[in-house]
Amino acid sequence: MTTHPLPPTPIAPSGSIDTSPIALSPASGAELDPIWAAIVPETRARSNDIHLPVSLAFAERLVAAHPEADALLVRVAIVLHDAGWGRVDESRILSEGFSGDWRKAAIRFEHEKQGCEIAREVLPPLGYDEEFVEEVVAIIDGHDTRKEAYSLEDALVRDADRLWRFDHAGIALAAGWFNMDPATYCSRLRSEIIPELLTQAGIEMALASLDRSEALLKTDVLR
Ligand SMILES: [Fe+2]
Ligand SMILES: [Fe+2]
Repeated sequence: MTTHPLPPTPIAPSGSIDTSPIALSPASGAELDPIWAAIVPETRARSNDIHLPVSLAFAERLVAAHPEADALLVRVAIVLHDAGWGRVDESRILSEGFSGDWRKAAIRFEHEKQGCEIAREVLPPLGYDEEFVEEVVAIIDGHDTRKEAYSLEDALVRDADRLWRFDHAGIALAAGWFNMDPATYCSRLRSEIIPELLTQAGIEMALASLDRSEALLKTDVLR
């Protein structure tokens, strides 16, 4: 299985872009259910049981906009990328992971490393070959602490990892993690997170979702 090198950003779509509310297209099929079943305990940390399924739904939309990408690699990597939060000291997640220079906090590197180990544990018994597992691991490793993406599939995972926050469910959770009110958090999404997105499809989905969330949450007056 080969991955595709990264084109210039924002990466133009080759398929269609769906900017409708994400709840209208949950992740498809049951193919990944054995992976979900293997990481149930890890989904209880840091609201992974909200973040991971919503991000998988966004990942499937990004793959639809990029039919040239290895869809299975993107889908499996997004499901597992944050499972490592389930194996680090929970009390350090909020104290280190979301304050100060949170991108460089040791806990961030630890959750990435643990995530790689979980992928190597969980995937081979489910029939995924070693080459595929190492492609998944390469995406998980550094997904929060690296600045750059290595491949189109890596870029799609990184955008899916961010897109869930633009839905009102993501805003509800993440605003609390950063100790912000929803309106302030929405402004931060617009000014800081949209510029981090790597695909045109991701940017369009994020903007449409953020407009809807701000209207729904009445952030023009509740600030
Ligand atoms: Fe992460
Ligand atoms: Fe994540």
